[in-house]
Amino acid sequence: MDNNDLFMPVILGTARKDRQSEQVARYVLNETEKTEINTELVDVRDHLAGETIPAWVDDDRASKWRELVSRADGFIIVVPEYNHGYPGELKMLMDMAYKEYNRKPAALCGVAGGGLGGARVVENIRPVLVEFELVSMRNAVYFSNVGDLFNEQGKIQDESYGDRMKTLFDELLWYAKALKTAREAK
Ligand SMILES: Cc1cc2nc3c(=O)[nH]c(=O)nc-3n(C[C@H](O)[C@H](O)[C@H](O)COP(=O)(O)O)c2cc1C
Repeated sequence: MDNNDLFMPVILGTARKDRQSEQVARYVLNETEKTEINTELVDVRDHLAGETIPAWVDDDRASKWRELVSRADGFIIVVPEYNHGYPGELKMLMDMAYKEYNRKPAALCGVAGGGLGGARVVENIRPVLVEFELVSMRNAVYFSNVGDLFNEQGKIQDESYGDRMKTLFDELLWYAKALKTAREAK
């Protein structure tokens, strides 16, 4: 299998007005270009229905998300920390599907205004991923003090993030390939 066959969308996990996570998601998307990951940016705003639509309910408003999740071989989730938790809209989105996630890997990028880079939200969301039978990567990338991290052109001011992204993508690709092979062998 060629890694180019592996489709892993970057999920921008907040719909907040003036969200700074969008800069992070765009940076993460750009960094994938140095890898063989086939991806696209997916904005929660483009999928929200305004209420929870459980996976077992047939509803046209959930179809686009379910189709995307089905097609994906893994996920890169950009999640800001809100009061140590994840945004409600990300949870509503994720709850629209279930089996489509099973046995696929997920990589987390935490975003925070503070110095802990979303470490708490990353640990908070992991048990939810387990319930979806997603395989959560041990590594995560933590975007601290995000208000100062990008210049006006959206360029990251700390180049060391490039190495952290590479470590995360290497791990994600390993799992994506192994799990896809295993899913297809069933
Ligand atoms: C409702 C809310 C709660 C927040 N709670 C935290 C927090 O617990 N820890 C933290 O470091 N930053 C916190 N922040 C700051 C966000 O992490 C910050 O806005 C950052 O830019 C990422 O979120 P954004 O994409 O909405 O901008 C909070 C922001 C909001 C809107």
